[in-house]
Amino acid sequence: MHSEQIHALLSEMTTEEKIGELFQIPSYFFDGDNATGPAAEIGITDEDIRVAGSCLSITGAAKIRQIQENHISKHPHHIPMMFMADVINGFKTIFPIPLAQGCTFDPGLAEKCASIAAAEATASGIHVNFSPMADLVQDPRWGRVMESTGEDAYLNGLFAAAMVRGYQGPYNNLTEKGKLASCLKHFAGYGAPLGGRDYNTVELSQRTLREDYLPAYKAAVDAGCALVMTSFNTLDRIPSSGNRWLMRDILRGEMGFDGVLISDWAALHELYIHGIAQDHSQAAELAMQAGVDIDMSSPVYIKHLKALIDSGKIPMSMVDEAVLRVLTLKNKLGLFENPYKDASETDEQELILCQAHREAAREFAEKSFVLLKNVDDLLPLKNTENVAFIGPYADNNLLSGAWSFFGDDMDCVTVKDGILNRFPEGKFSFAPGCPIVDPGIEVLGFQKKPPNDPTDPTSALEEAISLASKADKVVLLLGEHREYTGEGASKADISLPACQLQLLREVRKVNPNICVVLFGGRPLDLREVVRHAQSILFAWLPGIEGGNALANVLFGDRAPGGKLTMSFPYCVGQIPVFYNHMNTGRPFFGDYRKERYASQYLDIPNQPLFPFGYGLTYTTFSCSEIELDKNIFSAGDAIHATVQVTNTGSRIGSETLQLYIRDLAGSVTRPVRQLKGFQKVTLQPGGTAKVTFQITEEMLRFYDIHMNYTSEPGDFHLFIGFDSAAENTAKFTLL
Ligand code: BGC
Ligand code: BGC
Repeated sequence: MHSEQIHALLSEMTTEEKIGELFQIPSYFFDGDNATGPAAEIGITDEDIRVAGSCLSITGAAKIRQIQENHISKHPHHIPMMFMADVINGFKTIFPIPLAQGCTFDPGLAEKCASIAAAEATASGIHVNFSPMADLVQDPRWGRVMESTGEDAYLNGLFAAAMVRGYQGPYNNLTEKGKLASCLKHFAGYGAPLGGRDYNTVELSQRTLREDYLPAYKAAVDAGCALVMTSFNTLDRIPSSGNRWLMRDILRGEMGFDGVLISDWAALHELYIHGIAQDHSQAAELAMQAGVDIDMSSPVYIKHLKALIDSGKIPMSMVDEAVLRVLTLKNKLGLFENPYKDASETDEQELILCQAHREAAREFAEKSFVLLKNVDDLLPLKNTENVAFIGPYADNNLLSGAWSFFGDDMDCVTVKDGILNRFPEGKFSFAPGCPIVDPGIEVLGFQKKPPNDPTDPTSALEEAISLASKADKVVLLLGEHREYTGEGASKADISLPACQLQLLREVRKVNPNICVVLFGGRPLDLREVVRHAQSILFAWLPGIEGGNALANVLFGDRAPGGKLTMSFPYCVGQIPVFYNHMNTGRPFFGDYRKERYASQYLDIPNQPLFPFGYGLTYTTFSCSEIELDKNIFSAGDAIHATVQVTNTGSRIGSETLQLYIRDLAGSVTRPVRQLKGFQKVTLQPGGTAKVTFQITEEMLRFYDIHMNYTSEPGDFHLFIGFDSAAENTAKFTLL
């Protein structure tokens, strides 16, 4: 349709139809036609359903075609619905969780996998995807850290933009086959709940918000994301869905977003619960004023906007603007010409879980694993060794993250399957060793127990010890149940379940050659694991090809190359701990047991157990001192910093060289270092390569004392190395 036709359509619509466009119904509110029990309970009628503009969480080409056909035929102006869903890390071909994706430091791979997810989801009828999540995260107690790519604004921005490109295509042409509209979330600051407790209050200074939290959202907006979702939390004590400054001034005004703004699930209703609206009517008024276009899964707009318009509290022009944005998005998706878009049962058959998609999932998983420790080259394993694979993840198909509900666990390759696929003749044994969660604890969520979870913990432990005592090496497959991360999954204790730690201790008594492979969606407290294990590989929640990927990495067909994008705390008391903190007036570097009046703890070190950017591989690298082509420069010019990297080990391998910069003095305090670039090198044993980073004035900008985004002349340190603790440094000056 031409935009004049959209305007003409708008002018013909009744107020009820307009409000309908701003109402999104969840799948369980209707049977495809009529309102069901849960909808009726909150006053949603068949008439409301008839004019609803979009629907959440229905999939399947045949089903969506039928619902759409029915909807169009009954809608007074035959306006098609938009079908939206959460396709977070894959649709049916489930990829590693986003936090694991970040550890690849490979946004190109994230883009490729997002495009695969879009191809599968669109074949199944989806038009809009509630991804990417660009929330910066620093607190592993928060269960939703799994949905983020980590603690760094720059890296998060690269990944968020890459995902938008993957979903929407390089030209943002949403009519293109296999592409869908991307919805950035959760605007803003949802990743910083106090105490790591989901939905909790967020306290960020405007400077921290602008400098650390907004850039990744901005990167997705610049990439052209078609929608943005409001966050549940408050900022400056104002819930986002009622925050006019945040939505109209910052998001639309400063960032230039002109797409559809949708609330998070029932977040308009929650304006009342938060206590900034005295009732749903005032909630509707606040949200409209703030510029929220679509009300997801709450009765606030559909039940109250009409009266607000009639009383003049909300001008029709404001409603028209919102409706126009929704209709424009439908038009961008081509729905007026083709309301079914790419929904196709044939394509579903051909595309979903096809070999190419599975291969991408396997590659992504392999590249996301992070090797945290590997003493005496315990890894890689040899297929001639007698290896006991023990633990609740040894033969467990719950390897997909909590947001993988369109995937089927039956499609998932377990560790046992993966190893036997690779070496059908290997001398391997497999046993669960202990339950996945401590006995007596009920897992709240969708899937309670893995299929092979033992019912008798004592005999499971005995079997494990007997196998471990006979093996050359033991691989312990431990970790958190997948329902322990995701939404509503905050935890105060982030160590492994007691039964798993007991298994580790008992196995250690009979066999010291232990590799611990860890699964889960958050950084864990690994102090005890580090003490007992010779080797530690963090495998996250790797998705449906997890078992095959792990077999390839454990046996050395592939080398692990992931780098942490969230610091692993020493213990919970250290949280939040992140690499780009401020220096303070009393920084501390020494022994915490020997000095006192410094910014430190008296009982633990300041450093995390494993820092941001950290990750080993099967070979070793050295990095020369940094050479600068000049050490003084001005805006418009650039400095080039070069290091020589050498593979000092005996296997071919890859490294991710990281560039960090520190501004030594600013008009406001500056972080001790910030990631500004990274490059990957692959080298043969003894091989060497020069790696050069370019430093420009733009990379040195920040929000100054007057809140202007600018650089300030002065001295800087740069660091180049293999993680955020790299000490290899040089100094330069910006004139
Ligand atoms: C989550 C969003 C999600 C939405 C729709 C909410 O509970 O916070 O991330 O997109 O539900 O499922
Ligand atoms: C303390 C102050 C104290 C001052 C003089 C500082 O280290 O922070 O509270 O008044 O020493 O003793």
